[in-house]
Amino acid sequence: MHKTLIIAHRGASGYEPENTLAAFRAAEALHADAIECDVQVCRSGEVVIFHDRKLKRITGAKGKLKRKKLPQLLSLDAGKGEHIPTLKETLDMLDARIDMNIELKSKRSALPAAQVVRNSIRTGHWKAANFFVSSFYFRELRRFHEAVPEIPVSLLYEKRPRHLKRRIHLLKPSAVHLNAKAVKDKWIETAHGLGLKVYVWTVDDPALAETLRAKGVDGFFSNYPDRLMKKK
Ligand code: G3P
Ligand code: CA
Repeated sequence: MHKTLIIAHRGASGYEPENTLAAFRAAEALHADAIECDVQVCRSGEVVIFHDRKLKRITGAKGKLKRKKLPQLLSLDAGKGEHIPTLKETLDMLDARIDMNIELKSKRSALPAAQVVRNSIRTGHWKAANFFVSSFYFRELRRFHEAVPEIPVSLLYEKRPRHLKRRIHLLKPSAVHLNAKAVKDKWIETAHGLGLKVYVWTVDDPALAETLRAKGVDGFFSNYPDRLMKKK
């Protein structure tokens, strides 16, 4: 059967606190093919890696991430004593040893994220081919694509994929990321017919992965990336 891409969802977040350097290191240690992370812009303008709009679930602190400056965010515990990382320090730490899927989680995150990524390519070992960028916000994805056209972009859907042909025409995406809860066989076929890879989120059950693999799915986002790897 074809090889599927295993992407560590928010890092290896089944083992270490999500979207932290510890989770990213764990993903690398488990030999995931790539890391998925969620980026947003905080009040002082830095691009930070964090999933929720509000700080509560992860850090216990009150308020919204976008209202806090970086020093305030850095003082919070994101789990097991880990801090909320910036995109820059994450890219510096990983140094292109593993590919990155950056999900543009908040509005107006595309251009600041593009700048960080461009700098990492200019000054470090990162290459455009090490990245793929996704977003539920099509406008953000488009902005990113216009800023750094050499980096592949992926369409991201929670429910039914819409406007696929028009979006393909505008962005030339390489993949579509579909929600496992909603994925349908015909969507896999349609996406493949349009030349897109199909990556499904979030899959932690090896049996489900096997079923989807047999249907032609090209990759999985998993909190436990090692569970989906074929034993040699
Ligand atoms: O990018 C796939 C997946 O991460 C999207 O959902 O809520 O985990 O960011 P969420
Ligand atoms: Ca995500």
